[in-house]
Amino acid sequence: MENTNAFLKRTIGEIVADDYRAATVFEKHGVDFCCGGQVTLSDTCLEKGLDPARIIDEIEAVQKTPVERGRNYGSWSLSFLADYIVNTHHTYLRENIGEIVAYTQKIAKVHGEHHPEVVEIAAIFAKIENDMLAHLRAEEEVCFPAIKRVEEAQKAGMSPSVEDIETIRHSLLNFHLEHEEIGDAAHKIRHLAKGFALPDDACNTFMITYQKLQEFEDDLHKHVHLENNILFPKVTGM
Ligand SMILES: [Fe+2]
Ligand SMILES: [Fe+2]
Repeated sequence: MENTNAFLKRTIGEIVADDYRAATVFEKHGVDFCCGGQVTLSDTCLEKGLDPARIIDEIEAVQKTPVERGRNYGSWSLSFLADYIVNTHHTYLRENIGEIVAYTQKIAKVHGEHHPEVVEIAAIFAKIENDMLAHLRAEEEVCFPAIKRVEEAQKAGMSPSVEDIETIRHSLLNFHLEHEEIGDAAHKIRHLAKGFALPDDACNTFMITYQKLQEFEDDLHKHVHLENNILFPKVTGM
């Protein structure tokens, strides 16, 4: 990060425009980064009684994204891969999906009149949230535990239970269809948002919504890739 004094002189709006992840920190401290974003960080801290050094530390912390290189997912045990998917992608969704729904609804309310596509995006995303949360539960509560039991049985040289095999077979049929539906909905959002190109009259909330939708899509692609292309084919071959 640039030197502290220069950073303190930047406005909240500029900081968020530069890296939208900072919005999470401002939101947590009740700092308005949207319509009141023209105030400098230093003035904001004074006004809200916040410690500038602490705020800068928090912004730096959210800017540290996990490095994802050279991971040989295919060599992992199925149980470990299932846990990784839950801890990384399901956790991301649980932490973010409700916030994205709120953002899409906010821009639909404020900008829907001039940008009818955002009203449609909000409706599609609300359905994604609903479908996705049910999908995650089915994976975590039914299918992944069955995968782990089958793998355990095989490791111990025992035959897996017929019910578990049947549960997995049935689940995978559903999951493939659900992945397709959610993927299509995400694709439709990208299309409606014209590749997430911001209109000239977009405010910070509009910008953050589009960035978060892009982040969601990116995470979805990685998540579904791990399930469709690595986990499920290996499960089928067990
Ligand atoms: Fe999943
Ligand atoms: Fe899935």
